[in-house]
Amino acid sequence: MTVTTPELELETDRLFRALLHVDCEPGRRWDLAACRRIAPLTLEINRLKREKNAVILTHSYVEPEIIYGVGDFKGDSYHLSLMARDAQARVIVFAGVVFMAETAKILSPHATVVVPDRQSGCSLADSITGRQLQELKALYPEAAVVCYINSTAEVKAESDVCVTSGNVYDIIARLPQRQILFVPDRLMAENVRSELHRRGVDKEIISSDGTCIVHDQFTVADIVAARARFPGLKVVAHPECPPEVAAAADFVGSTGAMMKYVKTTAAPYFLMLTECGLVGRLQVETPEKHFIGGCRLCPYMKLNSLEKIRDALTHPRPDQIVTLDEDLRRRAARSIERMFELTPQG
Ligand code: 13P
Ligand code: SF4
Repeated sequence: MTVTTPELELETDRLFRALLHVDCEPGRRWDLAACRRIAPLTLEINRLKREKNAVILTHSYVEPEIIYGVGDFKGDSYHLSLMARDAQARVIVFAGVVFMAETAKILSPHATVVVPDRQSGCSLADSITGRQLQELKALYPEAAVVCYINSTAEVKAESDVCVTSGNVYDIIARLPQRQILFVPDRLMAENVRSELHRRGVDKEIISSDGTCIVHDQFTVADIVAARARFPGLKVVAHPECPPEVAAAADFVGSTGAMMKYVKTTAAPYFLMLTECGLVGRLQVETPEKHFIGGCRLCPYMKLNSLEKIRDALTHPRPDQIVTLDEDLRRRAARSIERMFELTPQG
């Protein structure tokens, strides 16, 4: 027999209304039965947040039941780093991947920052160490060292400035150096090269060899096939995609910019070349729009779950608590603060 209460019924109803239109992952729907199953957990987590003075930051790629069930803030890496910097909470739970939680700890050193799953890495962040970056820097002593935010605290500490997919072009264009050592995304480096060329900005971009295991899978053939089937289709890509894919898209931008583009563009169909969690968010926030194409999952982002968040809030294990050496943290903070200074407002 299932025991229910008015509070559980209200929570089930809240979740169902929020998640009703999400249909992006094969085999996953948030129907009434699913919402009834997770309602006790979301109630418990929201109560724990109040008790512990905690906030939950959620990247758009985690499951929608986390974003809309228990998340306090949602967004792309840039906006989440601002929220982490300005959070007044004693505890920050980062439902995303480890480099994002490290960034939160760098910016909010007095908060206890916890990750639901320590294995939530990132193929980009894990592609280069601080030591390897030191070796590269020795080869290009004149270059400005620019790290994509998808990098470890060690790599940030070795960099002059950090960038995100939302400000990379503007920040690199503003740097006085002509030679730029950009780590760790080789494909984004190629996209930066062509966008700066298009803007008439003369920079030499040298990069390391990382790629995102989700975005490096998209091909121009996906776009050609989709355009043939769906006339009027708009193709929206993330700058971690291969350059030929970015060139064939109608719009390229951060996950935040991709959402804004869809919300403000009239088109019969959209093909989103990114992790399918973003499609889930758009199905919640723009249920009248139509999305086509398959679903690509980031295995690291999908390690987050309501159960792990509840456990991290109740009794975080040592491996769930982010700790950083203070000297390393300060050096990493400088590259992120420089990013805030150089990001155009508005
Ligand atoms: P955004 O900063 O655009 O959200 O990207 C983060 C990310 O990991 C993309 O794969
Ligand atoms: Fe890293 Fe790619 Fe996953 Fe983003 S989608 S967290 S870049 S592996």
